[in-house]
Amino acid sequence: MSEEKDLTSSGLSRRGFLKGIGVSTAAAGVITAVKPIAEAAANDNGVVGPGNVAVTLKVNGQTKKLNVEPRVTLLDALRNRLDVTGPKKVCDRATCGACTVLLDGKAIYSCTMLAVEAEGHEVTTIEGIGSPGKLSAVQKAFMDHDAQQCGFCTPGFVTAATAFVREHPNATVEQVRAGLGGNLCRCGTYAGMLLAVSDAAKKGAA
Ligand code: FES
Ligand code: FES
Repeated sequence: MSEEKDLTSSGLSRRGFLKGIGVSTAAAGVITAVKPIAEAAANDNGVVGPGNVAVTLKVNGQTKKLNVEPRVTLLDALRNRLDVTGPKKVCDRATCGACTVLLDGKAIYSCTMLAVEAEGHEVTTIEGIGSPGKLSAVQKAFMDHDAQQCGFCTPGFVTAATAFVREHPNATVEQVRAGLGGNLCRCGTYAGMLLAVSDAAKKGAA
């Protein structure tokens, strides 16, 4: 059986797990999230922008109001406008997973969602998952298994792993490997991360 078939049959493929990537899901996001803004800010031709539009985001439980051009990604809004720098900008094209955040609990690439699309949704970043004084179970498992080297990819991995463990308690190592396939680590710390996420999944704690 090929690896691709394995991933597909497990239902935990990279594409399936990281919802929000790819044209079809992004388009769905536009339909559900941009509509209220379009109603409020569109001109007579139904066009939003190109100037700033008012956007209200809910980030880590806090309501944030900002004015951004409709072309600004959720990642750039978080990092450059709201000073939420846990999500990292690396590839900026839905490949590496460094920018992973949770949107209503689902892991997405924030570099491929517009800030205006995120209005009306709950955005959770690594800052909202745990804190140095109160680590989440997945964060603690990463510490226990020494699952990072430079640490640059770690916020994205921990965020994706948090969604994964919540959705797939008791996942096997192979399922964890497939489920986190949408995140890349240049340091190659995969062995430790697989153990960490498997451990958290075994305990059923995210
Ligand atoms: S920066 Fe978003 S996937 Fe790489
Ligand atoms: S720990 Fe360095 S990129 Fe992953």
